[in-house]
Amino acid sequence: MRKNKASLSSKLLTEFDRFLKINSNLQTNSANPLPNYVKTNYKLSAQEFTLTKGLMRINHTGEICAQALYYGQALFAKDRTTYKHLIQAADEEHDHLCWCQERLTDFETYTSVFNPFWYASSFVMGATAALLGDKISYGFVIEIEKQVENHLQEHINQIPRQDTKTHAILAQMKADEIRHGQNARDAGGVEFPKPIKSLMTAMSKVMKFIVYRL
Ligand SMILES: [Fe+2]
Ligand SMILES: [Fe+2]
Repeated sequence: MRKNKASLSSKLLTEFDRFLKINSNLQTNSANPLPNYVKTNYKLSAQEFTLTKGLMRINHTGEICAQALYYGQALFAKDRTTYKHLIQAADEEHDHLCWCQERLTDFETYTSVFNPFWYASSFVMGATAALLGDKISYGFVIEIEKQVENHLQEHINQIPRQDTKTHAILAQMKADEIRHGQNARDAGGVEFPKPIKSLMTAMSKVMKFIVYRL
C-alpha cells in the first residue's frame, strides 16, 4: 500500500516536471523533423497574417491540451498496452507542438498566456477519463481527435495556400490525428453520447475564442 502511494507521488512529480517543461516553451526539439514543404516568396497581407498567427496559436494550445490529455490518461491507464499506446501518441503530439511553436516563432508572436491553465484542466480531464476505464478513455480520444481533425480542416481552408510551411504542418498534423482516432477505435473505445460530444465541442469553442486573442 505504502509502495503504491510512493509510486503515485513519484509519478505526480514527474508530471509536474513535465508541466513546467511543456509550458516553458523551451521544448523545441521534435523527434520528427518539420514536414517537407516547397518554399515560396509569398508575403501574407496584414489581414492574412493576423488570421494565420491567431489560428496557429490555437493549434499550439491544442497540442498543449493533447499532450496533457494523453499524459493524464496514461497516469491511470489500466494496462501496459494502453499506457504505451498513450505515451506514443503523446510523443507525436509533442512533435506537433514543436512545429506549431516554430511557426509562431517565425511569426514573432506569443503563445497563449493561459496555456498552463489549459494544460492543467486537460490533464485532469484525461486522468478522470482513465479512472473510468480504458474503453471510456479511448472513447475520449476518439471524440477529441475527431474535433481536432475538423478544426484543422477549417484552418486549412482559411489559411492562404501560398503559406506552404503552415499548410505542410497542418496537413501532417491532421493525418496523425486521424490515425490517433482510428487507433483508439481499434483499441475498443466507446462512442460518446451526443450531449457529451456537444459539451466537449462547446468547451473547445471557448478555448479557441480566448486563445485566438490571448
Ligand atoms: Fe496533435
Ligand atoms: Fe492526436
